[in-house]
Amino acid sequence: MKLTIRNKDIDEAEILFYPVLKDKVAIAKLVKQLDYEDEELVLDKMARAKFAGNKGQVFTMPDVEQIVVLIGTGQIKKLAMEDWRQTAGEIVAYLKKFQTKSFGIETSAWLKGNNDVVSLGQAVAEGLELAKYDFDKYKKQDKDKIKVDLENIFVLSNKSAQFRKGWQTGTVLTQGTNLARDLVNEPAGVMTPTYLARQAEKIAKDNKNISVKILDKAQVKKMGMEAYLGVDQGSNEALKFIHLVYKPSGKAKDKIGLVGKGITFDSGGLNIKPGDSMTQMKMDMAGAATVIGLFSVIADIRPKVEVHGIVAACENMPSGRALKPGDVIKNMQGKSIEIGNTDAEGRVTLADSLAYTQKQGIKTIVDLATLTGAVVVALGPDYAGLFANDDGLNKQLLKSADATGEKIWSLPLPPEYKKLNKSAIADIRNIPNTRYGGAITAALFLEEFIEDDVKWAHIDLGGPAYAEKPINSYTGVGGVGYGVRTLLEWLRSI
Ligand code: BES
Ligand code: ZN
Ligand code: ZN
Repeated sequence: MKLTIRNKDIDEAEILFYPVLKDKVAIAKLVKQLDYEDEELVLDKMARAKFAGNKGQVFTMPDVEQIVVLIGTGQIKKLAMEDWRQTAGEIVAYLKKFQTKSFGIETSAWLKGNNDVVSLGQAVAEGLELAKYDFDKYKKQDKDKIKVDLENIFVLSNKSAQFRKGWQTGTVLTQGTNLARDLVNEPAGVMTPTYLARQAEKIAKDNKNISVKILDKAQVKKMGMEAYLGVDQGSNEALKFIHLVYKPSGKAKDKIGLVGKGITFDSGGLNIKPGDSMTQMKMDMAGAATVIGLFSVIADIRPKVEVHGIVAACENMPSGRALKPGDVIKNMQGKSIEIGNTDAEGRVTLADSLAYTQKQGIKTIVDLATLTGAVVVALGPDYAGLFANDDGLNKQLLKSADATGEKIWSLPLPPEYKKLNKSAIADIRNIPNTRYGGAITAALFLEEFIEDDVKWAHIDLGGPAYAEKPINSYTGVGGVGYGVRTLLEWLRSI
């Protein structure tokens, strides 16, 4: 997609798109500006179509030379980044029905009370690229389907450097997100621990600032990761422990650990899941996909901190060798875990990947995990749950998520609930003794493996890792790539 920015004349654009507020007077004013011969007729047509600038409403103006399309935002006063993203998503939806290879936007008409042209450029790039995403590699080519294949976008603006700067950031953030989406969407027959490890190796090979270490089963054994090995032991696929490192070109300001749950298929193990609950369990490596997607573009974002990406990848399968309910295993810190249910496997692998991360001397950790179904019960499908043992870190992550439009909500880590994870025979049990508050008790289980001087946040993305229904105009069904943009924004801000 070629971006052309000029301060006048974008006549080559076949279609011009305008976001509009839910404000009849402002819409009438815009119509006047666009200078139609028969303004009354346009307004009349608009009234008959009941176009009022509501969110998702689209109105195509009568054809003159350039087609002009108004997109309702539903906002009353001003537009924010998320409105721009969603409007860009609506553009792609429009272009799926009406094929064209070029379109234009006039930034002055897009700003609407928000003069941040850098953010506008970023949001438009994100909305377009994310909305265009389609995972159709396993489908026969559909001749009738219009693929949005944009060659040119023309932007009318007198702040071209700012728009372009934002555009570049947005493009990079979406590249990482779309890679994470690909990894989540790939069926578990292909997306094995070995496949994940290969992705990490490819990233390291292409970037001089990134290195990678892959540990195999023997090395993992040597490190004493009995918990991770336990989850893996029922599977025929080789496990892979992935450790990516990004080093900034100058002196690093800090050392950050990003840990992703990497269960490439969660059958539940011997506590096997019912069929319906298993269908989507190829997505149980979405946390890992976020870490790897992020690493694929981190060198372009150039954060000033050293970043470690850590994934204990394996499958959770039933077999004659599988972990059994009642088994007791130790993590590499020597803490014993009673397995109450083999389907609560993510937290068991994380007990080792979090321990390993801390062993690297890392004092700030964010983990991402499709850890519980309970978080979906609590917050619904679009929101991730955020848990943190540090208020500052909690606030930073909420702020970054807000900037990206990724939905997240803070949940508590109540010390008085810790007893719910008690075991009669081991240091801790992997399932609590109550059905209630399952996202919280899972987070509290993880906290048991966090040392006192470590700032830690846990993002439970059980809901938004995988969209069963489209989330918004730029996030369709399938892998969402949740967290890539939020974490990159966060890394940029520290
Ligand atoms: N991967 C699942 C959690 C999950 C379920 C994520 C649905 C997204 C959608 C996890 O390993 C799991 O099975 N958790 C159990 C825990 C229970 C056995 C305590 C759950 O949530 O039911
Ligand atoms: Zn499970
Ligand atoms: Zn799982």
